Amino acid sequence: MIRAAIIGLGWWGKIITKTLEKSEKIRVVAAVEPNESVGRAFCMESGLLYLPSYTAALEEDLDAIILTTPHRFHEDQVIQAANSKKHVFCEKPLSLSLESATRAVKACVMNDVVLGIGHERRFEPPMQLVRKLLQDGALGELLQIEGNFSQNKLLKLPPDNWRLSRAGAGCGPLTATGIHLLDMALSLGGGAQSIYASNKALATSFESGDSFSSHITLANGAVASINALLATPFYSRFAVFGSRGWIEIRDKSHVEAPTGWTVLSSLGEQEPTMVEYPATDPVLANLEAFATAARQGSQQSYPIPIEELLNTVDAYEAAYESTLNGQIVHLGSRPKLL
Ligand SMILES: NC(=O)c1ccc[n+]([C@@H]2O[C@H](COP(=O)([O-])OP(=O)(O)OC[C@H]3O[C@@H](n4cnc5c(N)ncnc54)[C@H](O)[C@@H]3O)[C@@H](O)[C@H]2O)c1
Repeated sequence: MIRAAIIGLGWWGKIITKTLEKSEKIRVVAAVEPNESVGRAFCMESGLLYLPSYTAALEEDLDAIILTTPHRFHEDQVIQAANSKKHVFCEKPLSLSLESATRAVKACVMNDVVLGIGHERRFEPPMQLVRKLLQDGALGELLQIEGNFSQNKLLKLPPDNWRLSRAGAGCGPLTATGIHLLDMALSLGGGAQSIYASNKALATSFESGDSFSSHITLANGAVASINALLATPFYSRFAVFGSRGWIEIRDKSHVEAPTGWTVLSSLGEQEPTMVEYPATDPVLANLEAFATAARQGSQQSYPIPIEELLNTVDAYEAAYESTLNGQIVHLGSRPKLL
């Protein structure tokens, strides 16, 4: 059993802690939360040790740190965990720039600790099926990807919340939800060559925007259109089109409370089919994969390769740049840092 401290008991920190109560592989035993009354109350209810600071967590005899803090803290907190020889699971995005993410990765590599990342959508059975169908050639050559991951949960936040500001959330709809499908598309397509994106606040006054759309040229020349909205009810669809078939995944609910997927596909000469997938828990699967890799002390055992983790931050940063300057951003011209 990996014993972990969770840092940040906001929305997602609480979800992860409760999720891991089911695990035989990794358990949250301590927490840090600067909002002391919230932190103490949750720790009391969940049987966790409440710690007064991040430094105190790093001094505890624990195997791992789970970071569910605002994005701007991720780099420093990953580096501090790594320097304290603790495996670290960081919520997405790892950071808001490739340089910053690379510094965090380097600290983990140098300290020989495992780095996990909150891209749990990779652990959904239909997403794993898509990957297999592409690898087996059943979809033929990858031609196009369409993804849309939208929700309106942030509408209830106060206007000064960090998730609504550019300083805190960068390109808001992309860091909130779109990045999961960006990560998936890049992973299937071998990274991005170029990105053109736009992000506007059409229905809200969110400084970090509420309507994101992007057009990405992938490594093999295929294209991905990844979109995300923060002012429409929950919607999530990921569709992959190949020269021999297509597959479309529709999520029935947000991953915080998974209820399964509807998967439509058409392969070769077969009639299109529709299959209902029962709920699984991708957040649990991701953290258990991290725990297994940490137990083995092997980054290679973790299913999300470091290079892909950096590809996603690189593409995020390029997309954000494109939303600000209105230009196509070519990733090949960006420095490779690792
Ligand atoms: N994987 C997913 O599907 C998913 C879903 C939601 C959020 N997230 C990620 O989780 C992270 C947190 O998001 P959230 O929505 O829970 O935010 P939140 O604002 O609800 O929670 C963040 C918590 O961190 C605490 N905090 C702030 N600064 C801190 C510090 N220096 N040290 C320790 N704690 C600190 C805050 O008090 C707050 O309780 C983000 O990176 C976000 O992208 C991931």
